[in-house]
Amino acid sequence: MKVAPAIEGARTATPGTDKAIDSQMNEILTHFKGEKGELIPILQQVQQRFGYLPEQAMKRIAEFVHVPPSTVFGIGTFYAQFKLVPTGRNIIKVCRGTGCYVRGAPKIITELENQLGIKDGDTTPDMEYSLETVACFGSCALAPVMVVNDKVHGRMTPEKAKKAIGKKSE
Ligand code: FES
Repeated sequence: MKVAPAIEGARTATPGTDKAIDSQMNEILTHFKGEKGELIPILQQVQQRFGYLPEQAMKRIAEFVHVPPSTVFGIGTFYAQFKLVPTGRNIIKVCRGTGCYVRGAPKIITELENQLGIKDGDTTPDMEYSLETVACFGSCALAPVMVVNDKVHGRMTPEKAKKAIGKKSE
């Protein structure tokens, strides 16, 4: 059995089989009427539930709001908030903007890459963590900044970054 995530805000649902996706889609779509204007809110719900937009879910959404699948796919690829490939249950984002860079962001990124054994843009093989860098969070006064599952951590050090992802000091 999978151990519950130790990090606040970790995604708990996993998409699983096609049947599991279908059943979760049924549940999500009961909250909507099937109007075109609901497309983005539906995609947001699906992204939140699965951590990405499964192709099967996008086809289902297209039918539901009566638009071609290419429209749904186009929106999914246009907005950075949507992912088309599975991500880890914990999303770790580190700012690589100038303000954070000069205050030590590269050391934090290196520490996280070492701790997780992955590079920027990758997901751990157990699907626990995805590591991303972003241009600026708009919280430059807190530089260097990292965000773990939407929780902002400011004035980071490599040691604090390690703790924020639930890794203990040796
Ligand atoms: S430069 Fe990092 S939050 Fe703005």
